[in-house]
Amino acid sequence: MLELRNLSRHFGGVKAVDELDLTVRQGEILGLIGPNGSGKSTIVNLITGVYKPTTGTVQFKGQEISLMDPHHRTELGIARTFQNIRLFGHLTVWQNVWAARVVRDGGWAGLKQRWLSGAGAAREEAEQLLEFGDLAHKRDMLAGNLAFGEQRRLELLRAAASGAELLLLDEPAAGMNAEEIDALDNRIRSLRDQGRTILLIEHHMELVMEVCDRVAVLNFGRKITEGTPAQVQADSQVRAAYLGTDQPAAA
Ligand SMILES: Nc1ncnc2c1ncn2[C@@H]1O[C@H](COP(=O)(O)OP(=O)(O)OP(=O)(O)O)[C@@H](O)[C@H]1O
Ligand SMILES: [Mg+2]
Repeated sequence: MLELRNLSRHFGGVKAVDELDLTVRQGEILGLIGPNGSGKSTIVNLITGVYKPTTGTVQFKGQEISLMDPHHRTELGIARTFQNIRLFGHLTVWQNVWAARVVRDGGWAGLKQRWLSGAGAAREEAEQLLEFGDLAHKRDMLAGNLAFGEQRRLELLRAAASGAELLLLDEPAAGMNAEEIDALDNRIRSLRDQGRTILLIEHHMELVMEVCDRVAVLNFGRKITEGTPAQVQADSQVRAAYLGTDQPAAA
């Protein structure tokens, strides 16, 4: 579904992403892990079009999108969540999800009309998402007033509401407690079971190892290995580079 080929992004002398080959297959949950500063968020920014590559290509469903505008990529079916939460803090929970759902049917043109009409299948779908994210009881709260874990949940709902086939989740578990992470685990699986493909960036190893079909490991912008969670956990390079220890990754 997504093919990164020889992809690099340099910032001055910093090789944030360096000659990366990575494939995300349709219907899988691919984990992307690596130490701080290893290039994970830069990869998301290259896939979504925030950054253009220094070299290499990004292909989505067979089409090269390396230089395409971000909003065109959204229309093709790519959505993300942000490591640093970005919601409409002054809008309610409902309005945040509704905005994401409404934009999907034809972008920004005629948006106001669609926003105000608010009936039918689209509304039903947005309501279901609120239930799915366990935020229906907070629908009229301003997003900015939600607890941190709830804001993370709302971000996920917004990405899902966009209808995207490919979801890029940049540290969705950051700042969550154990119970919230369990619930997130289930939600990520359900989204996949509904036909989404997921790229999951995370530092929570337990979540990554439990939920991912495959895991790719970055260090200094380069992929040092990829494989099943078990293979990656057993890899000595991963333990050395990523964990700085020779203990198993998810011990
Ligand atoms: N816009 C930018 N300008 C200059 N350097 C940047 C820029 N964006 C990222 N970098 C650098 O690129 C490298 C990779 O950063 P990136 O944010 O992709 O890492 P990351 O793996 O997401 O880290 P973390 O786990 O801390 O989120 C870092 O050295 C970072 O400082
Ligand atoms: Mg990051």
